[in-house]
Amino acid sequence: MKINGIHYRSVWLADDGHTIEIFDQTKLPFEVQIIQLQTMQDVATAIKEMWVRGAPLIGAVAAYGMALAMRQSSNDENLQHAYDTLIKTRPTAINLKWALDRLYQALENVEYSLREAIAYRIANEIADEDVELCRKIGEHGLNIIQKYAAHKPAGEPVNILTHCNAGWLATVDWGTALAPIYMAHDAGINVHVWVDETRPRNQGGLTSFELGSHGVPHTLIADNAGGHLMQHGKVDLCIVGTDRTTARGDVCNKIGTYLKALAAKANQVPFYVALPSPTLDFTVWDGVKEIPIEERAGEEQSHVYGINPEGTRSWVNTAPQGTTCGNYAFDVTPAEFISGLITERGVCEASAEGLQMLFPDLCKQQP
Ligand code: MRU
Repeated sequence: MKINGIHYRSVWLADDGHTIEIFDQTKLPFEVQIIQLQTMQDVATAIKEMWVRGAPLIGAVAAYGMALAMRQSSNDENLQHAYDTLIKTRPTAINLKWALDRLYQALENVEYSLREAIAYRIANEIADEDVELCRKIGEHGLNIIQKYAAHKPAGEPVNILTHCNAGWLATVDWGTALAPIYMAHDAGINVHVWVDETRPRNQGGLTSFELGSHGVPHTLIADNAGGHLMQHGKVDLCIVGTDRTTARGDVCNKIGTYLKALAAKANQVPFYVALPSPTLDFTVWDGVKEIPIEERAGEEQSHVYGINPEGTRSWVNTAPQGTTCGNYAFDVTPAEFISGLITERGVCEASAEGLQMLFPDLCKQQP
């Protein structure tokens, strides 16, 4: 990803080789601020408060959190404490557990003096792997976009609707849903993106920031606009990300994704979901019944964060004082609404059979 022409990842090691650096995503798109995480507790706060967010990035940053913990103290008690603290930061994205399990299993039977170095090595591997997984998702998704581009009249863009932010800010680089879009744009395909605002946390602002930095034409829309655009033939396809994908192909993504999928189905608009394999949870079958949905503070619903013409950033209350707010962060889109899952191994049907075909090695835990 490039900001002002400089290539960054969304998480990286500082020059001292152990401090973790990230962008404070709560400040974006108004301010690009890099912050340093020095302790496991800093990492827990960064994930909980959404300084970093997006399923794959949460996993990668949590892995570095385990490394920082081992630097602080590498005994068994601290290993368990770090795992228990980090796993509680956010409940829905399975990448968090996936990364923490990988670290825990690699460290539990290793002597204390080796743990810090091993933890950093694995955290680096997870970050590098994520970049590669997303790059491959981009290539497979590009084939899909090319298909739609081939049927567009000359000069007309392929219009793609996306929800939330599933770009490089949500991963270590490239993104999931946005990777195919970047690759299509770079390949000279005329693409235009409808960006859902994604209240209450306005991740659409992050997506607009990313697409703008990359020069991809896009339009930010209210969350309720998608159905109208689909009815009028202004959306060729939807591509979204996912925080957890079940054994039968249900996906759990940012609140509002389900409504977009319903509207897409009603209007015969293809609805694709892009995901790296660490987002798969073969222990879960029925996403609606089984996936824990994060509920966040009501203030995120009653307030919006923005910048005024003088450049002052602040939270503004939009609800009557004392209003009870519900803030459900995710919803589940059942597999039947999904046209295809775009993974690093190719595109498959959103079904148990489709996933088993692409991931025979991973689906062994299927219930
Ligand atoms: O609450 P967030 O911002 O962490 O939610 C992020 C999403 O819902 C993304 O769409 C999802 O993590 C897929 S990102 C590659």
